[in-house]
Amino acid sequence: MILGAGIYSASDNFNSYIGKAITNACDGIFKTNIEDGQNDQSTQNNQVDTMLAKGASAVAVSVCDVTAAPTLIQKCKDAGNVPIIFFNKEITDYDVINSYENAYQVTSTGGDYGASIQAQMVIDYWKEHPEMDKNGDGKLQLVYLMGDPGHTASQPRCDYLKSTIEDAGIEIDLLAEDTGMWVTATAKEKMDAWVSKYGDEIECCVAGNDAMALGALSAVEAAGFNTDGEESSKYIPIYGIDALPEILSKIESGEITGSVLQDAKTQGQTIVKMAENLTSGKDAVDGIEGVEVEEEAKAVRVPYQAITKDNLDLAKSTYE
Ligand code: GAL
Ligand code: CA
Repeated sequence: MILGAGIYSASDNFNSYIGKAITNACDGIFKTNIEDGQNDQSTQNNQVDTMLAKGASAVAVSVCDVTAAPTLIQKCKDAGNVPIIFFNKEITDYDVINSYENAYQVTSTGGDYGASIQAQMVIDYWKEHPEMDKNGDGKLQLVYLMGDPGHTASQPRCDYLKSTIEDAGIEIDLLAEDTGMWVTATAKEKMDAWVSKYGDEIECCVAGNDAMALGALSAVEAAGFNTDGEESSKYIPIYGIDALPEILSKIESGEITGSVLQDAKTQGQTIVKMAENLTSGKDAVDGIEGVEVEEEAKAVRVPYQAITKDNLDLAKSTYE
């Protein structure tokens, strides 16, 4: 059996890990090849056509443009009611996902996309480290790097980060906010400018994902911050989301303060098991432990988890 699988872009760190997790989980069940949609919907449409022409029993994609979901669904229907599983980018128009009995999605938990957990880490740090309030004004001088504005998770991550911090009674003084497009180099450019403008006035940098947190880190390190972790003479706590393997050593050294694990491995396993179930006429979540299908979204959601220095092993084991 073939699982036709694709990610929206191989330049996206987190999506590449889900791709690997899908490949690993397919072992002995499906033949697969993770296509790179190159962030271009027409490229991805062609890839799905080819998967179906080659006789894929099921299709699993992180779609380039969420508004193209109906087109991909139609292709799968036309190919003989082939199941399609969307992952990573939530199809928030539930009418679309409900328009086809063989369409499902696998994502992470909750409409806050992990940002409340990220905010809680900032709150804990603020409470445990009075020196975080560098200017002693009782407010948190924050800079925020947002994901791609066209992406379902970007704005909610930004909003929930701030509202959770404020609900905990910490006032935010937002020095700067802009999109880093999920991308390390773009985030570095923005942070370079903010560090040169605000320098040590910045009390915290939060990024919508780890790729951008890594960009922020190279910007602050170039300006002499964070190089000795929390012992650095100038320090800006930085937080990301995903808990990618490439950030874990930076959390260990204290150069980055925390991240939120988005469990690519479990997502990959869930996608493949679901594909197997759907191709053999079973219930979508048959044999998948501890998860439920959220009916109206037809979604299985894998939980996010906070990652700091104290529980790095959890994130490490996810990527073994
Ligand atoms: C998010 C993830 C980001 C990026 C984005 C792309 O869930 O945290 O790093 O991969 O998906 O769709
Ligand atoms: Ca302050």
